[in-house]
Amino acid sequence: MTASRTVLVTGGAGFIGSNFIRHLLARYDYHIINLDKLTYAGNLDNLRDVEDDPRYRFVQGDVCDAAVVTELMNEASAVVNFAAESHVDRSIEDAGVFIQTQVYGAFVLLEAARQAPSLDRFLHISTDEVYGHSIGDQRFTEEDPFRPRSPYAAAKAGGELQCHAFGETYGLPIVVARPANNIGPYQYPEKAIPLFVTNALDDEPLPLYGEGLQVRDRLFVDDHCEALDLLLHSGEIGEAYNISAGNERANTEVAETILEMLEKPKSLIRFVEDRPGHDQRYAMSSRKLEALGWSPRHDYEAAMEKTVAWYRDHREWWEKIKSGEYREYYERMYGQRLAESKPFES
Ligand SMILES: NC(=O)c1ccc[n+]([C@@H]2O[C@H](COP(=O)([O-])OP(=O)(O)OC[C@H]3O[C@@H](n4cnc5c(N)ncnc54)[C@H](O)[C@@H]3O)[C@@H](O)[C@H]2O)c1
Repeated sequence: MTASRTVLVTGGAGFIGSNFIRHLLARYDYHIINLDKLTYAGNLDNLRDVEDDPRYRFVQGDVCDAAVVTELMNEASAVVNFAAESHVDRSIEDAGVFIQTQVYGAFVLLEAARQAPSLDRFLHISTDEVYGHSIGDQRFTEEDPFRPRSPYAAAKAGGELQCHAFGETYGLPIVVARPANNIGPYQYPEKAIPLFVTNALDDEPLPLYGEGLQVRDRLFVDDHCEALDLLLHSGEIGEAYNISAGNERANTEVAETILEMLEKPKSLIRFVEDRPGHDQRYAMSSRKLEALGWSPRHDYEAAMEKTVAWYRDHREWWEKIKSGEYREYYERMYGQRLAESKPFES
């Protein structure tokens, strides 16, 4: 890509998008347009350090709004689509907005992209959850079928499938990323790791679903950004790439790691009623991406250390969030569950 490129990033005020915008501005002389609706998960505090950069522009808007999307797409040479409702638990409560943003929003972006005069790359951020959960030692490759098991994952699958269809039908320059669970700075504290770290810092209980045995692959967000950088510049058009660090750990182990790092007692762990249809394990092979030259720089310990330290040192960032809407959500999700919870026995 040349120095004068303009990259349209959607959902850039969220967790991964904000880290990716910071990554691009630090490495390239690109112009970045951040189109974000600012849902409860969008937060301009995530980008305070770059908001005055003349190469960065924020536009508040919805990816479902064809007028704003078309206008911005016409300026772009590449688009990176992060915009999504991203929390599985919320999709179980009410899936409509997930379908709207992930499926209809992807369609609006694709439709504008195929009319855009100078677009040469559409990088779509999908998820490992499109495969469903892995059984036994199963490790998904990009050839495995989609078997999404939550409304969130099904909506993500719908958005991704449209990308492939637009690539085949209209020759759009589509590349798809299927990342594992990210951890790192600026993640909204409804998600397991920031929820556990911030609760532990406040000596509040850590609610673990079921028996805490669900296994997730923890990908440090900087490693993810490096992978997306590579896909933006060198991913093969029409291809999908898994992004996994191979850092698979059960949720109980993750909670114990956090408590050890913060020198808090294990008695803060509470087992609560499980999420319905909870995926047990995610595991993918990243061989295809590694063949392009990527490998993660953070193993489980390094990723956890940096993540825990960031929330410990940025209390002002998360305390602001953990009020209002968040409190209502937390009470709805965990109030009753915690009242009926079981203690941790090591
Ligand atoms: N976080 C993870 O572990 C993970 C793993 C795999 C894939 N993903 C995918 O990566 C992407 C980013 O995830 P995240 O964790 O940063 O999510 P996030 O919830 O932190 O951020 C999502 C952002 O999208 C914005 N947004 C939502 N609806 C929008 C709309 N209609 N129009 C414009 N903006 C809208 C929100 O305001 C927010 O800023 C998502 O597509 C998600 O599905 C995330």
